[in-house]
Amino acid sequence: MAATNWTPQSWQTKPARQMPDYADKALLGDVEARLRRNPPLVFAGEARNLKSRLAEVAAGRAFLLQGGDCAESFAEFHADNIRDTFKVLLQMAVVLTYGAQLPVVKVGRLAGQFAKPRSNPTEVVDGVELPIYRGDIINAIEENAEAREPNPDRMLRAYAQSASTLNLLRAFAQGGFADLNRVHQWNMGFVEGSPAGERYQEMADRIADALAFMEACGISADSTPSVGQVDFYTSHEALLLRYEEALTRMDSTTGNWIDTSAHMLWIGDRTRDPDEAHVEFMRGITNPIGIKCGPSLDDDGLMRLLDILSPDNEAGRITLISRYGAGKAGEHLVSLVRRIKQEGRNVVWSCDPMHGNTIKASTGYKTRGFDSILSEVDTFFAVHRAEGTHAGGVHFEMTGQDVTECIGGAQEITEEALADRYHTHCDPRLNASQSLELAFLVGEHLKSKRDSERQNGSVREAAE
Ligand code: PEP
Ligand code: CO
Repeated sequence: MAATNWTPQSWQTKPARQMPDYADKALLGDVEARLRRNPPLVFAGEARNLKSRLAEVAAGRAFLLQGGDCAESFAEFHADNIRDTFKVLLQMAVVLTYGAQLPVVKVGRLAGQFAKPRSNPTEVVDGVELPIYRGDIINAIEENAEAREPNPDRMLRAYAQSASTLNLLRAFAQGGFADLNRVHQWNMGFVEGSPAGERYQEMADRIADALAFMEACGISADSTPSVGQVDFYTSHEALLLRYEEALTRMDSTTGNWIDTSAHMLWIGDRTRDPDEAHVEFMRGITNPIGIKCGPSLDDDGLMRLLDILSPDNEAGRITLISRYGAGKAGEHLVSLVRRIKQEGRNVVWSCDPMHGNTIKASTGYKTRGFDSILSEVDTFFAVHRAEGTHAGGVHFEMTGQDVTECIGGAQEITEEALADRYHTHCDPRLNASQSLELAFLVGEHLKSKRDSERQNGSVREAAE
């Protein structure tokens, strides 16, 4: 059902946080007009497909894997980087599919993840107060006043980069690269020798055996598209509403509004006030949407958001992405989960174990400990198991590169080692081997859930 009293511009009448103030209004208007003429990046039918896949996740018949950069940047834009992040996501998806024996819905934080919410509007560098860096779609990271001035032209550059990233991702997903028969080739050289890399090789051997068997039975990439291709979707935080508005179009087949900048958009933890601009914008687009749930969101607040954002309680529309921090996840999550269950709200529960676990290392770097990340994931699975709800997915900041941004993991990255390859433009990401290691741990949770459900099923059968 279409939202009432809503237009793509109606957010402009509400208070808006985290938005840049562009000095050159004429240039801004010109850029917006050009963006409005640009082709959509995704199609309404694709976003609808993702919604129905997410409805399967909500029902416990599939699992969601969402991951990619904290912030994409103009400087790191390179086919190799896109390919490597995609490869690691494929590897993680294979590991999760194996563990869960369920389809894995793959969604990248890619092809549009440029704008960043920040805690402070300014920072002091060498005694000079500068506007904060807000992501390459808004200003530049260099530490001088000119670089930090918001520039509307950056929206056009972000659009162009998103279009070519998406083009490459579509080619990888559909053009043979993601063929399961290539499962061995997704392992990166620097990951091969790591424990997770070796474990991956063993799993890949078993998959290759299974594929050879299936091929002998007549099931191959030629006869069965899901062997040779994957569905891959894109997502980002809908933060820079001028950009999102300009890419919002009416779907001619249904008359629904769709934000064509990505298949899925999410509302960040800092911009989810029900009376403000971001929620107003999101209520009218029909894409599947995520809501980040941090410690300041109580269950009444969440119900109010759901009344606004999902008045029809449509399956697949809402993904709740919890991000509390290790040690805090339990108390907060339990009360939200119980309330959602009690009210019969249709949601996907996903866990972002990154954003509640950011710390400052003694060496000054912003980092995250692998153990804390893992601990929040463990709590997430434990809560859902205890409450009888579905732990539906995970949301990670990760990269295919061999960076040193998060401490710990089997490589035992130390605080001192962070300086070696710390490349992120914003938050610390898991590197390829840490991502794979985490996927195995999530895979074990999924396997144990599956085993206990089967056991309960056979106990029930025996009792009948
Ligand atoms: C993010 O996902 O990059 C982010 C800023 O998250 P949150 O809104 O949960 O802090
Ligand atoms: Co982040």
